[in-house]
Amino acid sequence: MRLKVFRFDRETGESRYDTFEIEPSAGMTVLSALFKIQEELDDSLAFRYSCRGAVCGSCAMLINKIPGLACRVRIESLLKGEGKIKLRPFPGMEETVSWDPEDEVLVEPLPSLPKVKDLIVDMDKFFEFYRAVEPTFKPASKPLERERLMQPDAVKQLEMYTNCVLCAACVSACPVSGKEKDFLGPAALAKLYRFHIDPREPDDKSRLMLANSKSGWWGCEFHANCRAVCPKGVPPIEGIGKARKELKKSGKTPEQKF
Ligand code: SF4
Ligand code: FES
Repeated sequence: MRLKVFRFDRETGESRYDTFEIEPSAGMTVLSALFKIQEELDDSLAFRYSCRGAVCGSCAMLINKIPGLACRVRIESLLKGEGKIKLRPFPGMEETVSWDPEDEVLVEPLPSLPKVKDLIVDMDKFFEFYRAVEPTFKPASKPLERERLMQPDAVKQLEMYTNCVLCAACVSACPVSGKEKDFLGPAALAKLYRFHIDPREPDDKSRLMLANSKSGWWGCEFHANCRAVCPKGVPPIEGIGKARKELKKSGKTPEQKF
């Protein structure tokens, strides 16, 4: 089989696709295939990874035009045509590149983020938006003498959002993030919603108000690509929808705020 890999050099600004022929082994992932290329065919190929176990989020890339974790997506499944999902058009998806999905895997960097080298993108903006939602626990009460207990249902709700590994797959597949450079994006908004529903935080609207604008909750167009591509099953679109509903109910829409 062949891997068609996007190559990019920031210093010259030049890009191209290189095709590598490899013999896939049983269970080989896209990340393992990239290692094989780096070790045996071209040691200048650059990509990012750390855990190799779908935990660190650093190996996200565009694989056959779908954002995903390279350490999780198997070559065999791709060649069998498994795991295809229908997505609304987003910037990188629309760029036409020809490849034969039955014998070839197309690997490109995440779109909507500045390219650094080959498959590596600059995550600065992504983390800037993440920090903007103040993603740290702010307890409503002073430290207790024992742990803060939570109801199992509340833990279940929180877990839907805490599973995020900050891979930026959702952001790169989001049509709004692709066109609106100030939009906080699905990952940051999901994190913000996670703190809003945390029963240990103040029971008020302060978290929701942090993104009560067009670049926050109200910028979402509900394309749902975020939920479809998330490798950890996080549903940013649901949190955004619920946040908007709550703000509307309390009369705190952006028009009333500004
Ligand atoms: S919500 Fe999912 S896709 Fe988005 S950054 Fe987190 S883990 Fe990645
Ligand atoms: S290498 Fe850590 S998520 Fe893939």
